[in-house]
Amino acid sequence: MNYHFDQVVDRRGSNSIKYDFARELGKPQDILPMWVADMDFPSPPEVREALHKACDYGVFGYTQPKELYMEAVSNWFLKQHGFCPKAQWLVFSPGVVFGLSASVRAFTEPGDSVLIQQPVYEPFGKVVVANDRKLVINELRLHEGHYEIDFEDFEEKIVKNHVKLFLFCSPQNPVGRVWKREELMRIGQICLAHQVLVVSDEIHCDFTYPGFSHIMFPSLNETLAQNCVLCTAPSKTFNLAGLQVSNLFVPNESLRKKLREEIRKTGYVGPNQLGTIACEAAYRYGDLWLKELSSYLKENLDFVRKYLDEKLPQIHLIEPEGTYLLWLDFRALKLSPSELDDFITKKARLWLDDGPIFGQGGEGFQRMNIACPRSILEIAMDRLKWAIDGLN
Ligand SMILES: Cc1ncc(COP(=O)(O)O)c(C=O)c1O
Repeated sequence: MNYHFDQVVDRRGSNSIKYDFARELGKPQDILPMWVADMDFPSPPEVREALHKACDYGVFGYTQPKELYMEAVSNWFLKQHGFCPKAQWLVFSPGVVFGLSASVRAFTEPGDSVLIQQPVYEPFGKVVVANDRKLVINELRLHEGHYEIDFEDFEEKIVKNHVKLFLFCSPQNPVGRVWKREELMRIGQICLAHQVLVVSDEIHCDFTYPGFSHIMFPSLNETLAQNCVLCTAPSKTFNLAGLQVSNLFVPNESLRKKLREEIRKTGYVGPNQLGTIACEAAYRYGDLWLKELSSYLKENLDFVRKYLDEKLPQIHLIEPEGTYLLWLDFRALKLSPSELDDFITKKARLWLDDGPIFGQGGEGFQRMNIACPRSILEIAMDRLKWAIDGLN
């Protein structure tokens, strides 16, 4: 191991959303935060070095990254996912959610229908409703512990509601699916047949567990590439969320112009300098770090699975194929949604993400972020066991 993920970094007092806002968000002070999707690991040393260098230089005027930036970004996706986004497709955004929201405005009109699949990362629904579009939901189906797409419902909802745009989460947060080629093709073909634009949020693409590979939506074929907006960011992979940098790719020229125009209207003129420096360094030098991190996360996952199997069989782990987020099924405890949330927060003193915030299909579930040193995970699981033992 070249990198040490067991090291505990005290994040308290760093204005971290995850750690420093318990009181403001109505949580007890001694709660263990395992919620929002950022990691408790420092970014790769190569990224920190690049940032140090920029800080030592000390001039932070307006910038725009040039060819070397794009080379690092494209090579990353080529090496990791076999797909090379072209430089001219790039549209900068301060974040993926910003890109989702801008896409909704750029490609639909108020009152138009936008499709999402639930349970899903909360802002998917919010950006639709906040932009006065009609939210249409295709609920993912849980079948023998595995989430699947109900394609009949997917197409029916599109036709019935004249859906214009589909906000797609791939890999899926929170259920951890890494979509198979057949599923992606079917989604792509249905959307194409009904002139539905696919906006594919692939922010979690770099985290897949052994046996699963992520397929980037525009890599499926040229026709489907022309009908999509690909949303990426280095923020999940390298823990850079606070640096606000995201790379959107739009292969279709007229769609790209529309999206750029919409983003321009917000007053956003270009990316954060330190964000792009970190992004370039991460994509250029971060592959070994990510490889070791992925092994560490796999061990974290194995630890939780074993713990649940041996000590907490009432709680069912939805086996993730990707992401560092676990979707845990607490339905066997037979608690109401508010009782479960109270139990996790006040009894187990764990700060997880409460299932219902992810929409339909979220009741009885909690999402746990396992991107932390194992010693923290051990404390979390022991807290959970102690609380559950107390129920009997
Ligand atoms: C699926 C998904 N999209 C987007 C984001 C946030 O992206 P950003 O911070 O770039 O807006 C997250 C964060 O958890 C996420 O899980």
